[in-house]
Amino acid sequence: RPDGIIIALDGPAGSGKSSTARAVAARLGYRHLDSGGFYRAITYAALRAGIDPDSWGSLTHAQLDTLDVHGHATETGYRMTVGGRDVSAEIRAPEVNAHVSQMAAVAGVREWLMDALREAGARGGLVADGRDIGTVVFPDAELKAYLICDPEERALRRLREQGADDLSTEHVRAEAARLQGRDQIDSSREAAPLRQADDAVVIDTTQLTFDEQVARIEGLARERAGIDRNADVS
Ligand code: CDP
Ligand code: CDP
Repeated sequence: RPDGIIIALDGPAGSGKSSTARAVAARLGYRHLDSGGFYRAITYAALRAGIDPDSWGSLTHAQLDTLDVHGHATETGYRMTVGGRDVSAEIRAPEVNAHVSQMAAVAGVREWLMDALREAGARGGLVADGRDIGTVVFPDAELKAYLICDPEERALRRLREQGADDLSTEHVRAEAARLQGRDQIDSSREAAPLRQADDAVVIDTTQLTFDEQVARIEGLARERAGIDRNADVS
């Protein structure tokens, strides 16, 4: 591939995929593709357009086109817009969290997105994170990592990231239950369910610091790409 290898990071919600992918991409001079951002942007757009979630299962490609959802390549990753407006903040809202798995379970929606996701990897030099990157989107990725982590640790990380003041056991458990609810839908759906690819390296991040897990994946990536740790990757 002209620009480098493809690295696929999959795993449940809050396991650290996206932040790790961003950091690894920065270190390698690769681009980061947050595939969840695409599902989030479609969900946000459908909610905003007032389309009843109960009818999402029958959304046609033409209807999806009219939602005007796009991912724009930047130097370092992809910026999501809906109707030409940047929605980076909006797609992280609790309402989107609560509905995104329902949208992502729709086979027609996944099909509709596939070309755009694959296009992002056409030249390589990509770190992509999601649920089905190593199994469906880029089954020939040179490096696949599957990140796992205890649910309460994932909840704690998520709450800290949001700057939550209340980190009581009760609050952490409620967030863990929300994450596991999403994992349950993502793993049990028929279309591209969340699962580990046979050739993925499984990394349990529960006891790792963020820097440790980034270094671990960066090391594996350099090995697979045949690039020396000290060499210039560009
Ligand atoms: O960051 P977080 O783990 O909370 O979620 P995300 O990666 O932004 O993904 C949001 C949702 O999009 C997931 O819960 C899945 O339902 C869906 N998704 C998917 O189905 N396939 C992907 N490759 C990425 C995300
Ligand atoms: O993309 P995904 O939902 O899998 O997770 P994320 O949004 O990348 O990570 C959730 C949060 O956990 C981020 O704020 C990371 O910095 C943090 N994190 C951590 O505190 N310690 C780790 N070992 C890994 C991630």
